[in-house]
Amino acid sequence: MSPRVRYLSSKLQGLGTTIFAEMSALAVQTGSINLGQGFPDTDGPAVVADAAIDAIRAGHNQYPPGPGIPELRQAIAAHQRRFWALEVDPETEVLVTAGATEAIAAAVIALCETGDEVLTFEPTYDSYGAVTAMAGAQLRVVPLHAPSYEFDVAELAGAITPRTRLLLLNSPHNPTGKVFSHSELAAIAELCIEWDIIVVTDEVYEHLVFDGEHVPLATLPGMAERTLTISSAGKTFSFTGWKVGWVSGPAALVAAVRTAKQFLTYVNAGPFQYAVATGLALGDDFYAEIATTLAAKRDLLCDGLEKVGFDVHRPAGTYFATVDIRSVGEDDGGAFCRALPVRCGVVAVPSSAFYTDQERGRSLVRFAFCKRDGVLRDAVERLATL
Ligand SMILES: Cc1ncc(COP(=O)(O)O)c(C=O)c1O
Repeated sequence: MSPRVRYLSSKLQGLGTTIFAEMSALAVQTGSINLGQGFPDTDGPAVVADAAIDAIRAGHNQYPPGPGIPELRQAIAAHQRRFWALEVDPETEVLVTAGATEAIAAAVIALCETGDEVLTFEPTYDSYGAVTAMAGAQLRVVPLHAPSYEFDVAELAGAITPRTRLLLLNSPHNPTGKVFSHSELAAIAELCIEWDIIVVTDEVYEHLVFDGEHVPLATLPGMAERTLTISSAGKTFSFTGWKVGWVSGPAALVAAVRTAKQFLTYVNAGPFQYAVATGLALGDDFYAEIATTLAAKRDLLCDGLEKVGFDVHRPAGTYFATVDIRSVGEDDGGAFCRALPVRCGVVAVPSSAFYTDQERGRSLVRFAFCKRDGVLRDAVERLATL
């Protein structure tokens, strides 16, 4: 083997897969119930799936337009108006991406220069650190303090420097399930305006809220002009494998993201774009039902985890619940999660994966509850045997 290839392979060892992929592989290997990676075990609405099949049969199988098909861009603009009273022009202020993941990556790459700083709250969705590093920028994190996951405004203000270019805000928040309140968002907005910081909001769980309400940061005074709002069809419609996401905001910022996206994937998901346009136009009953169904699943899992003895941080949104394993006499989430499939046939993920300093999330473990009720009940019964 060439010395350079050997060097690279040793350098990259262990970095090639995320903890989520590792735990999903472990679930398959051990035949465990997978409450690790966040994907539902049932399909989304049949009418949306049928629209994808129809689009394939109708021959929508070549490269779609760079910004996304007009039908989907119009549906996204209509969605932003219908749910959040946000006005965006589907021609210039909306871009379709390969999932929210690409929207985040393209935004960070487009808006940051080498040496710039990107601010975010910790725990942090794992792609933020990676794409910030790819852009040559520096991630600075501000802690959300468990178990309520509040932040200290002074700590946020103290993390801002003249090099801060972007704030990456995720609400509803993965992994904690926190839904940022209006007053928290107002404090964030005030600092961003004062320091002229652009905000990229990751709102993929915008419709999965059980307590409180989701408020897009772009709706706060002075924020629409400096905010890129990102969401995705994966979580709302339970088609995580389709990877259709979008970003909306001021034309100049969307154009910058489009320029980066152009050289990442160019375009994506042609026929699925038609299907997602169908999904976004579904009635209010669909949107109300996904939240109530999921709230019941949250309670099923969280009640069960509490009975088992875990200290449960019950989420206000998303489809993840966090537990502190010190309440069951353990303290190393990584070791606990690697042993769990063998001990009782359940997979969860260590929350340390969401911290820059893994010691901070050491005793926390995340379970996903976007699974059938019978599967959740079975998982709780298995955990009770620990
Ligand atoms: C907070 C957050 N952002 C983005 C994504 C990725 O979304 P997509 O699958 O649309 O790329 C996820 C998926 O788990 C997520 O939890």
